[in-house]
Amino acid sequence: MSSNCWSLLQVIFAIGRDPCTSSIGLDKVGVKTNKSGFIPVDEEESTNVSNIYAIGDICEGKPELTPVAIQAGRLLANRLYGLGKERTDYINVPTTVFTPLEYGCIGYSEEDAIKKFGEDKLEVYHTNFWPLEWTVAKRPENSCYAKLICLIPEKEKVIGLHVLGPNAGEITQGYAVAMRLGATKADFDATIGIHPTCSETFTTMNVTKRSGMDMQQAGC
Ligand SMILES: *[C@@H]1O[C@H](CO)[C@@H](O)[C@H](O)[C@H]1NC(C)=O
Ligand SMILES: *[C@@H]1O[C@H](CO)[C@@H](O)[C@H](O)[C@H]1NC(C)=O
Repeated sequence: MSSNCWSLLQVIFAIGRDPCTSSIGLDKVGVKTNKSGFIPVDEEESTNVSNIYAIGDICEGKPELTPVAIQAGRLLANRLYGLGKERTDYINVPTTVFTPLEYGCIGYSEEDAIKKFGEDKLEVYHTNFWPLEWTVAKRPENSCYAKLICLIPEKEKVIGLHVLGPNAGEITQGYAVAMRLGATKADFDATIGIHPTCSETFTTMNVTKRSGMDMQQAGC
């Protein structure tokens, strides 16, 4: 196989997961599930039977991620035993898909943000970028991508961050702290980049999707 085949030949094997909730007696205690067996919960992980809670992948509409389940369990236990009041933040969840070119994201997808807030309330900044080490190895110039979704009425608070590039998981994790703290686009702009990294892309983004301007990277 020639060395550039990795980008042409990709096999994705994803059979998905089903919740095993049909034979544990939920019907006997009256816990509601949806037709696929997922359990609807409120913001405190309470099912429709208020003293029965559900956490993790079986919750309807929640991210199916191990660290989310761990956090939800810890914070639920804290609340139940009076050690804290904090709820799990299911919105600003950072996650990564470990494909050969990694994809990392935090918060809303553009599609979900449009559904929730309306397109006119959003400013979306985006750009291609070219990792420095790719310039030497002559890897393609415009196959990495960064996107910030900002909420205009809240001073362009960043509500979605997306990155497609090497080490996307490493890039993404730290920005999740900033987003939990309510960072705005101006905060990203006022942050000094580390040159030459991929992550610095997020401190210099000035092309909005709305403008239709060229988002191809322009060299370093
Ligand atoms: C919870 O939902 C189930 C299924 O819809 C229903 O049978 C049950 O009465 C509900 N329980 C409560 C406490 O609302
Ligand atoms: C039940 O919830 C799961 C998880 O959110 C969702 O993917 C599925 O579409 C829901 N099923 C139905 C029948 O609503």
